[in-house]
Amino acid sequence: MLKITDFRGGYHKGAAIVEHISLDLQGQRITSLLGANGAGKSTILRGICGLLPWHSGEVHFDGQRIDLLPPHEIARRGVRMVPEGRGTFAALSVLENLHIGGSGLPAALRRQRIERELTRFPRLHERSSQTAGMLSGGEQQMLAIARAMMSDPRLLILDEPSLGLAPIIVDQLFVLFPQLANEGTQILLVEQDVGRGLEASESAVVIEKGRITTQGRSAELLKDPRVQESFLGLV
Ligand SMILES: Nc1ncnc2c1ncn2[C@@H]1O[C@H](COP(=O)(O)OP(=O)(O)OP(=O)(O)O)[C@@H](O)[C@H]1O
Ligand SMILES: [Mg+2]
Repeated sequence: MLKITDFRGGYHKGAAIVEHISLDLQGQRITSLLGANGAGKSTILRGICGLLPWHSGEVHFDGQRIDLLPPHEIARRGVRMVPEGRGTFAALSVLENLHIGGSGLPAALRRQRIERELTRFPRLHERSSQTAGMLSGGEQQMLAIARAMMSDPRLLILDEPSLGLAPIIVDQLFVLFPQLANEGTQILLVEQDVGRGLEASESAVVIEKGRITTQGRSAELLKDPRVQESFLGLV
């Protein structure tokens, strides 16, 4: 379970991009991190994954402090991120990308998981020998998620998975998230579409200018006049 306490961080010493960030994902299946462009969402995610050069505060995962660990060690403990822009290896095939996602696993288990992911994403199955760079945007997003799922992460962090995708593909992705959560993978989802993010999650955190301004149960935030006015254009 992820717990962040009074996190402050940025890319240059002394210049904080996000501060006073505290959140606890205990008991949450899907949490959405919402906010406008430049609010600091990706910066928080990088902080969780050990990729932010400067920070203070603490990040705990399963009761152990992880913010001082190198990124690969944080990943090994079960925190996987699909970054903005997806980050698949364009020159490698779908299968090769999945193999990399399962690196460190015994060969038989790795093959079993590749089968599982190709069953989950039939489009990837059809294109398994194609290079990732030749996939459509939606297919690349599926591959990025499949690759992250190869390690059976405890926490899957998705940074704007819907960006640039056709509405029908976005709908498919949003059907997928509760399925992944049912398999025991907690999800932290960054989404710019506040309404959509709230509908897809049990709890939500709204970031504005590097700080948390609203936090709570998604169903309640959907009814909150301040959220409706600021983000949903309803009032
Ligand atoms: N590598 C970097 N070096 C310096 N500043 C950065 C870097 N990445 C982001 N920033 C700055 O940090 C601030 C927050 O950026 P961040 O990427 O966290 O926003 P975001 O909420 O993810 O926005 P978006 O929705 O556009 O992805 C921005 O002002 C941005 O210019
Ligand atoms: Mg971002």
